[in-house]
Amino acid sequence: MNREEKVKCLLEQQALAPHLAESFREFLHPNKQHLFNDISENIISNYILPFSIAPNFLVNDKIYLVPMVIEESSVVAAASKAASFWARNGGFRTKVINTLKNGQIHFTWMGDCAALNSFKDEILELINNVTERITKKMRKRGGGIMDVEFKSIVNMANTHQALIKFKTADSMGANFINTCLETIAPHLMDFINQHQQLKSAEAAKSIMCILSNYTPECLVECTASCDIEQLQPYAGDYSVQEFAERYRTAVEIAINDPYRAVTHNKGIFNGIDAVVLATGNDFRAIEAGAQAYAARSGSYSSLTSLNINNNQFTYTLKVPLALGTVGGLTNTHPMAKAAMQILQQPSAEQLMQLVAAAGLANNFGAVASLVTSGIQKGHMKLHLSNVLNHLEASEAEKSSTLKHFKDTAVSYSMVEQFLKELRK
Ligand code: MEV
Repeated sequence: MNREEKVKCLLEQQALAPHLAESFREFLHPNKQHLFNDISENIISNYILPFSIAPNFLVNDKIYLVPMVIEESSVVAAASKAASFWARNGGFRTKVINTLKNGQIHFTWMGDCAALNSFKDEILELINNVTERITKKMRKRGGGIMDVEFKSIVNMANTHQALIKFKTADSMGANFINTCLETIAPHLMDFINQHQQLKSAEAAKSIMCILSNYTPECLVECTASCDIEQLQPYAGDYSVQEFAERYRTAVEIAINDPYRAVTHNKGIFNGIDAVVLATGNDFRAIEAGAQAYAARSGSYSSLTSLNINNNQFTYTLKVPLALGTVGGLTNTHPMAKAAMQILQQPSAEQLMQLVAAAGLANNFGAVASLVTSGIQKGHMKLHLSNVLNHLEASEAEKSSTLKHFKDTAVSYSMVEQFLKELRK
């Protein structure tokens, strides 16, 4: 079915009200719809989210404007405020620790992985030979297949994996890795089955080949550091020392309590996801990998850590971010292309650093609010326009309501009440 037929079908099945069919039509792009039609399947319209800019990100001494795509009010404001604050205090220092990505070939075999690992060099040579043509361009760009290791799956008899390490230069590399794995698997099984010292009673059989979105070695670190005295703009009614102590306690709670850690990290992902989405990267992959990293000790914990020493407040985020700046939506979605331009066409490593800075900025703003004024005061002020739209306020009503709540606390029911009075 073409788009019109799909909409007609939905209308006939009464799955869609006629006015929704009309708004689906309204949200089609007037002249670039063909670009969006090719992105996914069964498309009947586009889903619009705000594209915002958080300015003043000073990262390794260079200023960036950071594009953010997010539906939640106050996130961009918090990122912008924190970025300006840190720009006045030395900015964010970032470094990429490593960029290794992983692929897995799972297989059944009645042998011991130690034996396979003892043939590692030979197997790596085989892997490189059979993927020669696929990896040629990637090797020119500094990537390729870096290593292989065999591991047995815990709690499963005769079930193993070849864990293959890749570098994928500026691409996220999912297709590259998967193509390599699917090429390698039959050769690897043949190698095992034909080797005198490896063959087992039952032949080795490949079960599946896929990249792993757990990339603990595709890691970036971002730090912001200042004298405690400089924290005054965030300290609210507290002294800077009290503020720093309260902040330290909040981070320690997030390190030790998984319930808090999830929310603390969610504040980090407010920044991370918004930039990942703006640049057309796979936010599910980023989330899955980084959340698993947060639980690498066996207990889910904070992705940030704080060090207060010699009157110096040093806040650090360490997070795996397997991002790409070539291929995928990054180069086809017009808004992702715009985001990349605004970020000055970063390499994948540079993008990892900018995304980490956005994550740290948002988390810093959130925790600073939580330990001082509380989150609702600022959040509800910025959320007020959403509440007013929800209550279908007219422009005149919006203007009176904004005036009324300028210096008072905002809640949904208070706004509702105020409008009710206004409409009497
Ligand atoms: C809301 O989007 C994010 C926060 O809950 C993060 C946090 O609690 O640290 C405010």
